[in-house]
Amino acid sequence: MISIRAMKRSDISEVYRIETLSFRSPWSKASLESELKNKLAHYLVAESDGKVIGYCGMWVLFEECHITNIAVDPAYRRAGVGKALLYAAMEVGDSFDATAMTLEVRETNRIAQDLYRKLDFEQQGFRKRYYPDTGEGAMLLWNVNIPRTVQNNACIRDTFALQWETFEQKRGDKA
Ligand SMILES: CC(C)(COP(=O)(O)OP(=O)(O)OC[C@H]1O[C@@H](n2cnc3c(N)ncnc32)[C@H](O)[C@@H]1OP(=O)(O)O)[C@@H](O)C(=O)NCCC(=O)NCCS
Repeated sequence: MISIRAMKRSDISEVYRIETLSFRSPWSKASLESELKNKLAHYLVAESDGKVIGYCGMWVLFEECHITNIAVDPAYRRAGVGKALLYAAMEVGDSFDATAMTLEVRETNRIAQDLYRKLDFEQQGFRKRYYPDTGEGAMLLWNVNIPRTVQNNACIRDTFALQWETFEQKRGDKA
């Protein structure tokens, strides 16, 4: 079973490695580091046998979660890790009383679109030529009822162990 927990400074190199393997325009190490200081940001990493194999970042702004990035090490794809990370992000968002989740996805990224559809995201807009590197447009997707998706997909919960400590601490700081 994979383990999912909050990202730490010592994970940045591995997360950056996955970022560069996954995206045409990867985030820099400095951007990832600055997210650790951002009180609104929550980054989750998936681990297998002590190795970071994927991550998902989001900002929680009142009742909305904005996914900033999600990626899985190419060697570990197609094994449910992406779905587990997104589901875990919904659980964390739900625990902060967020009810909706949104993200942008490249119009040609069918694999990610499939993943999002499985967790009840629907298209609510389109931004033409949003990505300067290719000129692709961005589909704006929303899940407007996170608690319902969490409840209806509870079987995903059995595929990972979520370590809550850091998220609970942040929730305590916010209160
Ligand atoms: C998108 C991504 C995170 C999915 O991670 P993953 O761990 O491989 O995904 P999962 O195994 O959990 O699969 C979840 C669903 O995604 C879809 N999917 C995943 N890989 C797929 C593939 N190769 N072909 C078609 N659909 C695929 C399927 O619907 C799958 O559900 P299923 O297993 O019930 O068929 C991963 O492909 C990735 O890191 N891509 C590069 C980065 C990226 O594009 N991020 C999204 C930016 S918006």
